Amino acid sequence: MSTTFTLDTSTSRANPTPAPMKRLTVPAIQRRKVDGRTADPLVMLTAYTARQAQILDPHCDLLLVGDSLGQVIYGLPSTLAVTLDMMAAHGAAVVRGSYHSVVIVDMPFGSYEASPQHAFASASRLMAETGCAAVKLEGGVAMAETIAFLSQRGIPVMAHVGLTPQAVNALGGYGARGKSEEEQAKIIADARAIADAGAFAAVLEGVMEPLAIGITDSIPIPVIGIGASAHCDGQVLVTEDMLGMFDRVPRFVKRYGNAADMIDESVQRYAAEVRDRSFPSEEQVYQPKK
Ligand code: KIV
Repeated sequence: MSTTFTLDTSTSRANPTPAPMKRLTVPAIQRRKVDGRTADPLVMLTAYTARQAQILDPHCDLLLVGDSLGQVIYGLPSTLAVTLDMMAAHGAAVVRGSYHSVVIVDMPFGSYEASPQHAFASASRLMAETGCAAVKLEGGVAMAETIAFLSQRGIPVMAHVGLTPQAVNALGGYGARGKSEEEQAKIIADARAIADAGAFAAVLEGVMEPLAIGITDSIPIPVIGIGASAHCDGQVLVTEDMLGMFDRVPRFVKRYGNAADMIDESVQRYAAEVRDRSFPSEEQVYQPKK
């Protein structure tokens, strides 16, 4: 079971935090939505590593160890090949690197759909091995029984509806959802079903804005939008997308930085200094004491 660690940046070692600060809790997140409104919007970002979590944590309410790590960290073409082992390893790292945010770990494709019992085995493993506070799974009406099963057994569930990337093959791509009346009705039914089943919050991804507004106003649990609406109860983005690590990002991503260019420039200077032997210089080498 993980505990909170502090990274000693002089040695890059993780040391147990002597007096861990109080973490936000799932009930505290739920209480932010009062009478269908969240006055103080919820801030959520993805995190996959301990150091990343440490930097994001003071600014966030929720950290999501998303299965988007398949593409972002492992260079996979989709989230479909992400495993429970990957999620457990990255989830534990993020819990070790954070002390404030609620950490949620994504259940990967194939780890929960077969039955509520199968989902319980996977989710309980993730919670035991990572120390996370909740799991996230994709699906609405079809997953309602599983969400109820987990929630009633002490596993808080965030459900993901709208554009659900694990269903990319069934959906035929990553395009926005809710364009037709039929699709809108399905997404509304999904959102209602997961709220009724006991999910503590929902991620609503890639839907037409009026639908996002309607769903946010009509279900009692916090709705975290991504490609949805500023009217949602909170927002989430993939951190590497908003930091500018990738050339191509979905329309709904706003870039708040240009990390790829910063890394490129730094590595270019390093490579040049290695090649002209100006690195390492006096300050970076050890000399025997005289
Ligand atoms: O896997 C992920 O990062 C996600 C977010 C995009 C919501 O599910």
